[in-house]
Amino acid sequence: MKLFRAFSSQASGRHRVLARPPQRVFLVQMISRRYCLAAVTLFAVQSMVALAGALDLVIPDLPSPIPFEFGRAIHLGFAVLWPLIGTMGMVYYFTAAELNREVFSPRLARWQFGIVLTFALSVYLSLSLRIGNGREYLEGMPLLYLGIGLALLLAAYNLVRTLWADKHHITPAAAIMTVGVLFLLILLLPNALHYNNPTLDEAAKFWVVHLWEEMAFELTTAGFIATFFIVSGLAVREQVEKWLYLEAGLAVSGGLYSTGHHYFWIGVPSLWLLLGTLISLLEVVPVAMLVQMTYVGFKSSKLSSKTGIKSKREKLTLWLILSSLIYHVLGASVLGLMITIPWVNLYVHGTYTTSAHAHLALFGSMGFLVLAACYYILSWGSEPTAKGYKAGVLAVLLLNIGLIGMGTALLVAGFVQTYLWRILGQDFMQVRFHLTPYLLARVLAGGVFALGDFLLIWQIYTAWWRTRKQNSPSSGH
Ligand code: HEM
Ligand code: HEM
Repeated sequence: MKLFRAFSSQASGRHRVLARPPQRVFLVQMISRRYCLAAVTLFAVQSMVALAGALDLVIPDLPSPIPFEFGRAIHLGFAVLWPLIGTMGMVYYFTAAELNREVFSPRLARWQFGIVLTFALSVYLSLSLRIGNGREYLEGMPLLYLGIGLALLLAAYNLVRTLWADKHHITPAAAIMTVGVLFLLILLLPNALHYNNPTLDEAAKFWVVHLWEEMAFELTTAGFIATFFIVSGLAVREQVEKWLYLEAGLAVSGGLYSTGHHYFWIGVPSLWLLLGTLISLLEVVPVAMLVQMTYVGFKSSKLSSKTGIKSKREKLTLWLILSSLIYHVLGASVLGLMITIPWVNLYVHGTYTTSAHAHLALFGSMGFLVLAACYYILSWGSEPTAKGYKAGVLAVLLLNIGLIGMGTALLVAGFVQTYLWRILGQDFMQVRFHLTPYLLARVLAGGVFALGDFLLIWQIYTAWWRTRKQNSPSSGH
């Protein structure tokens, strides 16, 4: 464990390096910057791949080295893995900050980074070479997911040993982030196996597609938001962590049984229809508690000084967190509940309505949140200049406009598709032809989204570049 020492003072461009350190820094927090850098880079690449795929849907037979189905598989691989890599960095950084000590083994964290990046890149490379297994979202070879499981095993071991080392001072935020990582591991492992039975195969797949997102990541999310408010001094600990264990308990029980909303038509007993529908209602409660916790933190940070939050870096982080909360409510909970009603799901299942929900919920709630953490971590020790802050806000705005545009275009496409295909019974390909204008609108909105993406990533890179020397172990850490 070492103290942060040398901070030079430079002020130019979009970020200003601070003359004095804001808090203590630990070795694992420097290592967590690698995770975040990898996550934001993969996010930037994902947008490019996605835009090419979206264009291919309106201009068929575009010359491309990778066929659409493999491009889609790579896009979904990105959607699952960059938030995971960012989350690993986020959990390490905020666990050390929350406990105010080093994790059990920074060396393990370093190894874990190498392993997760190697296996994630292997998934993308093998899919580019047209080697895949056709399991949506987990289309790489099962062995590669075993590698990602190994990285999660190291993370879980490291975090549990960290908490165990001082069990009398475990805080709710640190505990729920560790439990979140344990769940990520437990839920992934069955997906490194091969199943001949299609029902079993689908059932296990949703342990990642659904339970990672709506249970494990909900725990890491709540832990991050609470710790962010506490360590940045924006809110008082007691205020934000008051209901944290209850919120985590509800996220676990709600998330677990609401897996049923993915089991409606896969061949499991019809009890899941009832469980999936009723328990999905419960899923909304922890989201409401998350919103309430952020509101409390936000309100108390405004009250703590006459002028409100002073740091532009913290403000930009808050814009990203607030964006995530909006989609938690609208894209995940409201839209999710609408398509959960079995009579609705019977018609909209697997249409563009699902794609709208997938984008609004997955990027909207998880993506924005991981970006918030990564921005905060990679800009550690610096402050954006007024120009840099404006560019950052513009990037968040473009991401929001692009995402809402894509979501709306997909929702309309989904309604038209459901009506013509599922209700009027028209031919699939004939219906597909009618969807072109909406898919074109999605490309345009996707372009705006990608612009916001690149602008934000540029901001993040600039901040990282300016602070990399101060944050490198060679400068005495
Ligand atoms: C430039 C931005 C993006 C564009 C243009 C785009 C485009 C696409 C396209 C063309 C598909 C194939 C199926 C379909 O037509 O809907 C797709 C599916 C999907 N994308 Fe994106 N995407 C973008 C960003 C993202 C991001 C940032 C995420 C999450 C981190 C994401 C998650 C997904 C998911 C989960 C699906 C599967 C949806 C389903 O079929 O159920 N996308 N996207
Ligand atoms: C952060 C939270 C959430 C995320 C990241 C998320 C993500 C996703 C994704 C990626 C899919 C597409 C799966 C596929 O292509 O097979 C999906 C489908 C679905 N989600 Fe969510 N979701 C979230 C919250 C919710 C909530 C709270 C509900 C309901 C209360 C819900 C209900 C559904 C339903 C019913 C489907 C299946 C749609 C179909 O049958 O095609 N989701 N979700």
